[in-house]
Amino acid sequence: MCGIVGYIGTRQAQDVLISGLAKLEYRGYDSAGVAVGDGACIAVKKKAGKLANLSGELAESPLAGTLGIGHTRWATHGLPNDTNAHPHATEDGRIVIIHNGIIENYLSLKEGLIARGHTFKSETDSEVLAHLIEEAYAGDLYEAVRVALGQVRGAYGIVVTHVDHREIVAARTVSPLVMGVGEGEMFLASDVPALLAYTRNMVFLHDGDMVVLHDDGFRITDLAGQPVERPIDHIDWDAEAAEKGGFDTYMLKEIYEQPQALTNTLIGRLHDDTGEVNLDIGLDPQSFKRISIIACGTAYYAGLVGEYLIEQLARIPVEVDVASEYRYRNPIVSEQTLAVVVSQSGETIDTLEALREAKKGGAKTLGVINAKGSSMTRELDDTLYIHAGPEIGVASTKAYTSMVSAFVMLALWLGRARGTLDETQARDLLHAARELPRLVEEALAPERVEQIKRVAEKYAHARDYLFLGRGVNAPTAFEGALKLKEISYIHAEGYAAGEMKHGPIALIDANLPVVVVATESRLLEKTISNVQEVRARSGQVIALLSDGDTENARHADDVLYVPRAHEMVSPVVNAVALQLLAYFTATALGKDVDKPRNLAKSVTVE
Ligand code: M6R
Repeated sequence: MCGIVGYIGTRQAQDVLISGLAKLEYRGYDSAGVAVGDGACIAVKKKAGKLANLSGELAESPLAGTLGIGHTRWATHGLPNDTNAHPHATEDGRIVIIHNGIIENYLSLKEGLIARGHTFKSETDSEVLAHLIEEAYAGDLYEAVRVALGQVRGAYGIVVTHVDHREIVAARTVSPLVMGVGEGEMFLASDVPALLAYTRNMVFLHDGDMVVLHDDGFRITDLAGQPVERPIDHIDWDAEAAEKGGFDTYMLKEIYEQPQALTNTLIGRLHDDTGEVNLDIGLDPQSFKRISIIACGTAYYAGLVGEYLIEQLARIPVEVDVASEYRYRNPIVSEQTLAVVVSQSGETIDTLEALREAKKGGAKTLGVINAKGSSMTRELDDTLYIHAGPEIGVASTKAYTSMVSAFVMLALWLGRARGTLDETQARDLLHAARELPRLVEEALAPERVEQIKRVAEKYAHARDYLFLGRGVNAPTAFEGALKLKEISYIHAEGYAAGEMKHGPIALIDANLPVVVVATESRLLEKTISNVQEVRARSGQVIALLSDGDTENARHADDVLYVPRAHEMVSPVVNAVALQLLAYFTATALGKDVDKPRNLAKSVTVE
């Protein structure tokens, strides 16, 4: 995350940058900074903390100029201080850049640049971009940026300006960038709301696009320098719709944001060459004998997937607790316990109190958390941020899949460190994890979404629902049931498929839709036997099957196909289909999915 704004035209750039950044603070507020110029000089001002710190200073001593770039930061590399704030400039101050994303190979690039005489001021990965552009610069800023980007690996939305040029050069890969087209003025931003006060004519840049902005126009190319055509879209969203990115609801927007959220969770942490995972945490993987995972609601189900993954891949005993139970059950904790708390908000009071309980017993603590700077992060020994971005919809979607992906990485990291996974196994899983953003993108293909919608509408008037899954996908069934009941108010039970015969089977009749997670796995045959048990009692089977599994489709009344994924990462892909099933059921029933009755996004009472 991080927010970017750029402007070239006739207005005072500072005003455009500050008003645009104010709409992007949701993307990060560790620091803010602007560079303002006029094509002959550039002045930079940046400040740690919220945008108000910077805008207060700028109100007292404004920067004059009609060209500028601005940034609001969510720190990934380097402390959130003034020095690490963007923009970053070359030593002579002639080239200034801002960046959103992560440059994965920045360390090796930085070493090379230092060896060639460059001096770095910040600890950021982004600063290498300024130096690479400086090295490649021979009078043509666009060309220098293009050559520099050819050397980097990772994610970027980058915006660059040079003291000698009245132009802004920008490019994106993975990180979003939208361009606003005005009359005699041009804009750039990470998201539409930043620009709506100025123009409604927008060009959505694609991965691999580069753009040069002048006062009266723009030119788009690919990274090879070939011209690219992109349409100018007229955005007629009102302010609220703009915040929802044109989707009807935050929940749907967040479901569709999952490929990007997963990229942000995984990026910079997986190293294919060595099969290693770098989580940037101080925890000693040998210093504990058991793990307690503690969380509430959806985060608890992510923890159940975590239990399965860690036990399978790292062979450490794990127990998972609902936080409200953990804190009062006098748990057995010692210095050899690692307590892992999982939370989107980092504020859930039950989880926070459970964390305190674990600390009292001497446990080491690690958080799998989304919200930066939240209460839990201030009390944890270490935090593994999931970087899913703000989640507004009360029903958690992208935070869940990002949490599960974080557990995939944690299990891999522990397995490698403790010698239970060899390099080949680790590489295989690492590859499977890397595939997740692409697989989730595929899971959101229009024809799949249409099929889920059809099935949701067919069963929307059911009184009850049953969800079944096995192994690493048992929690997928629990989470699917929770999603459905939260937003559609249909009673739903999630069960381990093998447990159905010990009770819930009594519920089955012709009116009960039973969703069975039956994607590729070593236990698939057993799950299919459970499907037969449902059918024998006239239950309606909705099967989640891996692409191409026509054999097992015969046993189902309705099939939702999902992209094939490695079993260990399949809960991420499978969850997406069940989120959509819940979503379309709720909308078919006319429910307010973003604000379901009786619920709150962050539960800070017991
Ligand atoms: O912010 P947290 O992850 O700690 O929240 C935990 C639960 O309250 C949360 O997951 C809740 O169950 C969601 N509404 C589920 O969609």
